Amino acid sequence: MKILLVVGNRPQFIKAAPFLKAIEKHGGIETSIVHSGQHYDMQMSGIFLKQLGFPKIGHNLNVGSGSHGYQTGKMLELLDPILSKEQPDCVVVFGDTNTTLAGALASYKLHLRNAHVESGMREFIWRPEEINKKIADHCADYCFCPTKTAEKNCLKEGISKNRVFLTGDITFDAFCQNIGTAGKLDVLAEKNLPEKFFLLTLHRAETVDSAEKLKSVLNALIELDESIVFPVHPRTLKKLSEFGLLEKLENSKKFFLTEPLGYFEFLNLMQSSSMVLTDSSGVIKDSFYSRKPCLVLDSTTEYPEVLESGYAKLAGFSAKTIVPIAKKLLNSKPKHLGKNPFGTGKSAEKMVEIISKSAGGK
Ligand code: UD1
Repeated sequence: MKILLVVGNRPQFIKAAPFLKAIEKHGGIETSIVHSGQHYDMQMSGIFLKQLGFPKIGHNLNVGSGSHGYQTGKMLELLDPILSKEQPDCVVVFGDTNTTLAGALASYKLHLRNAHVESGMREFIWRPEEINKKIADHCADYCFCPTKTAEKNCLKEGISKNRVFLTGDITFDAFCQNIGTAGKLDVLAEKNLPEKFFLLTLHRAETVDSAEKLKSVLNALIELDESIVFPVHPRTLKKLSEFGLLEKLENSKKFFLTEPLGYFEFLNLMQSSSMVLTDSSGVIKDSFYSRKPCLVLDSTTEYPEVLESGYAKLAGFSAKTIVPIAKKLLNSKPKHLGKNPFGTGKSAEKMVEIISKSAGGK
């Protein structure tokens, strides 16, 4: 049996790593990896492949940056001959990016069995990622849902029950597998960062591509009583520079800017931080796994479970909401957690088992 994985973005390398481990543990499955090249830098791609011990990438589409239409179109064109030649028993895509959409659509059209990891996530607003994940779910033979909410969303959209599987969240697998290694680093000393700080990430196009929104968020964060460590995503760096905000941040005594960090370095910093400020779904989950308060710089999230736990709060985009909600979050006590809504850290093994059984494997 052969499983082909389509990856291409920073979070997808993190999600694919436990999947590859589970395949190895299962035995008897050949793998092939296609890297779309959507992320291509050392800091956005290379470091993750290295840290997470990826095997050789079989095909790199080298698509690189560009518009949504260009990226998705080019990937579709290049995936067709590869998938047709490889004829895998199952294609696996992860998350909600243009790489996810292209992998799912190409497989479906070629009538290849395919699986969507992180299925059923919905924000119910306009976002490029919203349509990417919706289409991937409707193409998939296996919708692997991280949470009960995700499972419900799939069923509500009419995806038949025998294609929907509640497996738990693969990012929790990744966290459990790597937190030990990450904990041994001393990123604060290495990068000469302050002992007490909030950890900030911002990357969503809807936020950072708008000068008004980006300014509003940064002006609010300046009002918080703590240093802020900010590993800057390349899109955000470009926009900060374009909007004339970069120099001010670099010269400020409050903000400590770094390049985008590897997975281990990022998890290590999160453990040392006193609060996480982010617009990233993945980082929201990591902060929950780390039991850190998380101020969500957004108006919605795919993970209501984290809000319900009390560990995270939606804070929007302006000082009016961000400042009081940050204070409230720091002074509040999260609820006692019952069962982890993200599963047991063994989701990838379940997924591989499901695919293997239905393909007639062991
Ligand atoms: C993409 C995903 C987003 C995901 C994010 C994780 C889509 C629609 N968006 O957004 O859902 O949360 O990845 O990071 O698929 N760049 C580099 N080096 C790189 C890659 C990108 O410098 O290795 C720069 C380029 O200037 C590029 C910009 O970052 O134009 C944006 O990259 P792109 O991959 O288009 O989207 P992301 O913003 O990373």
